[in-house]
Amino acid sequence: MNDILRQCIKERKTSYIPIWFMRQAGRYLPEFREIRKENPNFIKLCLNPELVNNITLQPLNRFDLDAAIIFSDILLIPYGLGQKVEFIKGFGPTLENIKLDKIINTDPVDFLKKLLPVYKGIEKVKKNLKEKDLIGFAGAPWTLLLYMLNKKSPKNNFNFDEINKDKFLVNKLLKKVEEIICLHIEKQIDAGANVIQIFDSWAGLLPKKELPNYCYIPTLKIVEHIKSKNVPIICFPKGIGENYIDFCSTVKPDCISIDYEIDPKWIKNKLKGTPIQGGLDPKILLTDKEKIKKSTENYINIFKDYPYIFNLGHGVLPETKPETIEYLIKIVRNKK
Ligand code: CP3
Repeated sequence: MNDILRQCIKERKTSYIPIWFMRQAGRYLPEFREIRKENPNFIKLCLNPELVNNITLQPLNRFDLDAAIIFSDILLIPYGLGQKVEFIKGFGPTLENIKLDKIINTDPVDFLKKLLPVYKGIEKVKKNLKEKDLIGFAGAPWTLLLYMLNKKSPKNNFNFDEINKDKFLVNKLLKKVEEIICLHIEKQIDAGANVIQIFDSWAGLLPKKELPNYCYIPTLKIVEHIKSKNVPIICFPKGIGENYIDFCSTVKPDCISIDYEIDPKWIKNKLKGTPIQGGLDPKILLTDKEKIKKSTENYINIFKDYPYIFNLGHGVLPETKPETIEYLIKIVRNKK
C-alpha cells in the first residue's frame, strides 16, 4: 500500500495500523554491526551515501514495515556547524568546546556542502524504496542546544541553570540552530523525505516554566515552516508528562509521538483527534512473549478507533533480538 503513514496523519484513517520503529536501523541488527565494525567513525558513516542507503534499507529487507527512516543522526547539525563530534564506544557522543563565533558565522552554503552526502543518501534510498514513506528528521532546538553546550549526554550531570547562565550565548545559538534545522529539513524534503520527525529527546529535563521558551516556541517555528511545505510533521517531546497537552495545543504538530510514561487512554481522551504514534516501552521487548503480546495489544485496543501509528516509546534497544521485532510486527498485523 502507498503512503500509509501519510494517510494516517493527513486523512486520520487507514485500513490497517502503520508500523515503523525509532532506531529500526541500529545495533540490534547483526548486519548493522557488521558495517559498523568496518566503519569506526560514526560521523563518516553517516556521510557515506551508499552505506546510508544500505543501512536505511536493512530493516525493510528483514521486516514488514511501512516506512523507512533515513540512517543519520541529530548530531550532524553541530558537526555541520563546525563543532567536532565523536562517538565513543560505551560512552556515547562527545562534542568539542563551543566556539560561538565560528558557529554563528557558519555560512548555510558551507553547512549544506558538508552535509551534501546526507541528501545524496536520501536520494538513493528514495529510488530503492519506491512506494513506501521515507522519514527525514532533525533534533529539536532544545535537544541540540543541550548537546552543544553540555558536550555529552546530559543523562548523569544535568543542571539547567548551568546551561542557561549565559543568556546571550543561549539566545544566539538557539536562533542559529532553528534556522539551520529548517534548512536541513528542507533539503531532506527536496531529496525525497515525505514525512518529518522532530526529536526533542531531552525536553523532559526542562523546568515546567521554561517549556514555552525552550521547547514549544522554538519547535513551533520549525513546525510552521515544514507545514508550509505541505509535508506532515511528527513531534516527539520526550519526557514532558502531562505537558504533552500544552505542547500539542501550542505547537499543533500533525502527529504526536508519545513516550512510555504517557498513559495512552489519558492522552487519547485529551487530544480528541490529533494522530498519535508510539508509546510501548522498548524495555518490554527484552521480556517474554506473553508480556510483549499483552502490552502490545493494550495499545492496539486503546487506539483501535483512533488515528494511530504503531511505534515504541523510544528507540529499539541494542539488546533487542531481531526475532522479537518480527514477533511484535506479527501481533500488530494480527497474525499472532
Ligand atoms: O531511527 C533510526 O533508525 C534512524 C537513525 C537515527 C540514529 N540516531 C542512528 C544512530 C536517529 C533517528 C537518531 C536520532 C538521535 N541521535 C537522537 C534522538 C532520538 C533518541 O534516541 O532520543 C539522539 C539523542 C541522538 C544522539 C545519539 N546518537 C546518541 C546519544 C547516540 C549514542 C547512543 C549510545 O547508546 O551509544 C547516537 C549514536 C547512534 N545514532 C547510533 C545509531 C544507530 C548507534 C551508533 C553505534 O554506536 O553504532
